[in-house]
Amino acid sequence: MPATQPANPAAALSSAFAEGKYALPELPYAKNALEPLYDAQTLELHHDKHHAGYVKGLNTALEKLAAARKSGDYAAIKALSRDLAFHGSGHVLHCLFWLSMTPGGSKPQADLAAKFVHCFGGFEPMAAQFAAATEAVEGSGWGVLAYEPVADCLQILQCEKHQDLTIWGVTPLLVCDVWEHAYYLKYQNRRADWIAAFMKLANWDFASQRYALIKK
Ligand SMILES: [Fe+2]
Repeated sequence: MPATQPANPAAALSSAFAEGKYALPELPYAKNALEPLYDAQTLELHHDKHHAGYVKGLNTALEKLAAARKSGDYAAIKALSRDLAFHGSGHVLHCLFWLSMTPGGSKPQADLAAKFVHCFGGFEPMAAQFAAATEAVEGSGWGVLAYEPVADCLQILQCEKHQDLTIWGVTPLLVCDVWEHAYYLKYQNRRADWIAAFMKLANWDFASQRYALIKK
């Protein structure tokens, strides 16, 4: 397990798909590396059980869809399409989530910092909106900082049910998981405390690398 953040986020994400199947990616840090803000027990359950469940569900959905194409029997297409979206979004968002945190947090690079000024008036207003929007997610979901290409600008979104809601074409740069499994062991019903901890772990260098990849 690498002790530090991989230099290239695309390379770090490449282990999330291997040999024709989706796979559980290696964490970019030790399981206790985010202590005390994010405890090792929650992180282990989150990665090894919850994220692994999405990977298994995604591969199963794809196998069943392949069988349906072969047989021509699409009786279960609605359920299979839903499974594909639910587990597919769960896998992709969790891959980004692990990289959205880093021990000690990090600062945005110059290009992304300038974009924060252009789109939000600066880093602090962006961070305040991100925390407020994430805390206000109804039930399970995510806070998402994303790039919207039509206006060439960044937006902060609430992803309330990750199988349903998106803006097609946006590219998430940084995501915060507020499903209860992400924080309940340590923070119980204190979601705001978990978000405050996440903001201290926020990996703005990773967000900057994602932004640079999009802008190429
Ligand atoms: Fe999660």
